[in-house]
Amino acid sequence: MRGTSNGLPSAEPVLELQDVWCAFGDHEVLRGIDLTVHRHEVVVLIGPSGSGKSTLLRTVNLLEHVDDGRILLTGQDITDPRVDADAVRGRIGTVFQSYNLFPHLSVLDNVTLAARVVHKHSRAEAEARGLISGEVGRGTFVQRRRLPATAKGAGQDVINLALNVPPSTGEDELIASVLSEILADGALPPLLGYLPHQGLPSHREIIAEWLRAFRLKIDVANLFITHGGQHALSIALNMVAEPKAMVLTERFTYSGMIALSAQNGYRLHGVDGDADGLLPDALDRAFSDTGARVLFATPSLQTPTGTVMTPERRQQIADIVSRHDAYLLEDDVYAFLFAAPPTPVSALIPDRSFYVTSFAKCLAPGLRIGAMIVPEQFRDRCINAVRATGWMASPIMAEVVARLLHSGDLMRQVQLKRTAAVRRNAIADRMLGNWLTPLSGTAGFHRWLPIPAGRTLIALVTQAAQAGITIAPPGALQQVDRGTLGIRLCLGHPATDDVLENALAELKRILESAEAISFV
Ligand SMILES: Cc1ncc(COP(=O)(O)O)c(C=O)c1O
Repeated sequence: MRGTSNGLPSAEPVLELQDVWCAFGDHEVLRGIDLTVHRHEVVVLIGPSGSGKSTLLRTVNLLEHVDDGRILLTGQDITDPRVDADAVRGRIGTVFQSYNLFPHLSVLDNVTLAARVVHKHSRAEAEARGLISGEVGRGTFVQRRRLPATAKGAGQDVINLALNVPPSTGEDELIASVLSEILADGALPPLLGYLPHQGLPSHREIIAEWLRAFRLKIDVANLFITHGGQHALSIALNMVAEPKAMVLTERFTYSGMIALSAQNGYRLHGVDGDADGLLPDALDRAFSDTGARVLFATPSLQTPTGTVMTPERRQQIADIVSRHDAYLLEDDVYAFLFAAPPTPVSALIPDRSFYVTSFAKCLAPGLRIGAMIVPEQFRDRCINAVRATGWMASPIMAEVVARLLHSGDLMRQVQLKRTAAVRRNAIADRMLGNWLTPLSGTAGFHRWLPIPAGRTLIALVTQAAQAGITIAPPGALQQVDRGTLGIRLCLGHPATDDVLENALAELKRILESAEAISFV
């Protein structure tokens, strides 16, 4: 994405990357990158985690090696081995992210630190030269309308429509009271030791009982309490996929799966779907063509697209997984939102399925309690995997969940979350109805916004950011087809329905406005 900071781009490039390659072992991170940046141009690299953005920046600053190609800085080939790397670095400012920033300095001061300390430019001088502006960090090159602070909710700088959490329904007070109860009735000391890796039998029993409502036949022996759903996915994947193995997913998939693949080198292959979920023929072909033996799927309220797989499809998908001698990782974290949950695919092929769920969405992510049902033959290895990756999930937090299940308070929370989901989806339909993919029957906390014709994802994300709204592109897979690109709008994070409505009204204005930032 490009823009200009304060003037037209000059004819002479400041920076030129010509066919730059960089690999770590046999993992190619940069494959023939060409990039030209002119003076006054602002170039933003956007891509999923692990796609090589930071590596690219590091090669420019000679902090990373270049295997092939050339990098020219104002015409000088800085990849020439005779070049003095420190002299080059003195001409390029790099601001590293997160913990590398100085917490006692503002964003502006962090960004201008190198220019002031190394080159002795004053801050005023830097501003006068247009190196910085007061809007650093929010898009310095084009100023757009901002939502007024009052529209964003008390104490909020931005409205976050990128994080998929349910709205608060009083779970904080509930959890506080259960924690006090645990302290008061002396239940804490026995929860403080090293306890069984799979979780306490009493906790597993009550969680199994809860999961039976989701139409699963459960042998408690195969049920694991995990450190959230993500931990369960990581263990399950580790059981059936070697590092660098091919893993099939829906075409757009959950960002946690992309993070896992970046971590372990799994190669994700997106399979096409329609409004009823994964397309059986496409899945069949993908197994045959790629040799993959694992499918990760979220049949109920798929993230990011929100589709719900029909019962017929579930049966077809189960048959295909079996026919290819493959395994299914079924992510069912949104099942609680259904008054009558669809039968999980795992229930059809229990010997080939890892069923994963979590109490993050129906209660609170911070508890870090998830659950997983594994095929009998993997039980012992999974026990060792939990031991190897953290011994056990926190028994104290599992006790909180168990008590809330026992008292019925968790079910009451679920009802409240479902009501909130219906309300928030009604707001989304009222504000953005024509732009959104229609609801598939059950309201969740995310909706799919296909990119309208003639618009780019990047322009929408940027314009929303400039208005103070964070929206996230999908965890897009390798062969993203621009025609089907979209944005997952998360409806649960804004503190109130009004704040959500304000944000969606602004998005509508952005979508409807003819003006577009010109990016190439
Ligand atoms: C589809 C999906 N699966 C799994 C998870 C992970 O849940 P947890 O927070 O329990 O790790 C999330 C959380 O955002 C999710 O959206």
